[in-house]
Amino acid sequence: MPATFHLGKRNGIRSFLVAVTRVSVYDRHWSAMLFRACKAHNGANRTRIAGSRSMRERKTYSPEDVRRRIEELGKEEPWFHSIDLGNGISTMKNSLPHLQKLWDRIAANLPADLSKKSVLDIGCNAGFFSVQAKRANAARVVGIDMGDRFLKQAEFVRDVLNLDIDYRKLDVSDLHSRGMTFDVVLCLGVIYHCSNPFWTARCVASATRECAVVESAIVKHESVAEMPLWEFVFPGYRPDTLDQHERMYNWWFPNISGLKAVFRAAGFDRVETIYQLEDRATVICYK
Ligand SMILES: C[S@@+](CC[C@H](N)C(=O)[O-])C[C@H]1O[C@@H](n2cnc3c(N)ncnc32)[C@H](O)[C@@H]1O
Repeated sequence: MPATFHLGKRNGIRSFLVAVTRVSVYDRHWSAMLFRACKAHNGANRTRIAGSRSMRERKTYSPEDVRRRIEELGKEEPWFHSIDLGNGISTMKNSLPHLQKLWDRIAANLPADLSKKSVLDIGCNAGFFSVQAKRANAARVVGIDMGDRFLKQAEFVRDVLNLDIDYRKLDVSDLHSRGMTFDVVLCLGVIYHCSNPFWTARCVASATRECAVVESAIVKHESVAEMPLWEFVFPGYRPDTLDQHERMYNWWFPNISGLKAVFRAAGFDRVETIYQLEDRATVICYK
């Protein structure tokens, strides 16, 4: 993600409990997407939506079919991942090189040989990182998301590229009760969408056998830079002013120490920074 993509604009500052708390207005486009995803999630059964390739029919697409379907799916839900589908066709008009850069940084920190490793991509969206993991030869790749439309995009991409990726509709918060475990877990751009980030971290830890990569928006408070903090960015304590959509935005932004502390506390032995910008960070958490 570009550094500012998830963050959007902010306004207003209020104090709340011990931490600095901001009432914020976030990226409308993203929040609308997420709202629709959550709405669909609330009303739908959490069923397996795709099996392994052997269980699926092999579909073939002409370049015209691919273009038409990209447009249809983009109308249902604007694409958030630019993915090259061959024949000069991509899911988005503008390529988003930051996605590849993020993957390159992540891959440099993963086991060199993924051929015997399973990978879980939490909040997979249209599947950019699931595709990368599969192309890096991962033995098994599962992508989960709670948005039907994102999953439809991901399945389409998978089918066009003929990759064996298993997509499921699942909330990260439910991972704990599923008993699913993976060698490598990716949790990219998700944790600040979760109302209980500690629980999310516990769920990530419960699903991880070897390591988890976590990417998040971060905040900086210079005066307390060393102190682990999570800034509450959801004005839930003023329900009268609450646009229901706001519930689906972002809830908490950590500073880098807070991000690492939560994953340590959730059950990882060691958490290291892979990459840090002004307002985004990627860490790797080892069991
Ligand atoms: C900002 S996008 C990040 C997508 C992708 N991981 C990336 O880094 O490009 C957040 C994704 O997480 C999904 N998501 C949000 N909350 C979730 C949850 N509780 N469980 C599973 N997926 C979730 C959204 O539907 C969306 O596809």
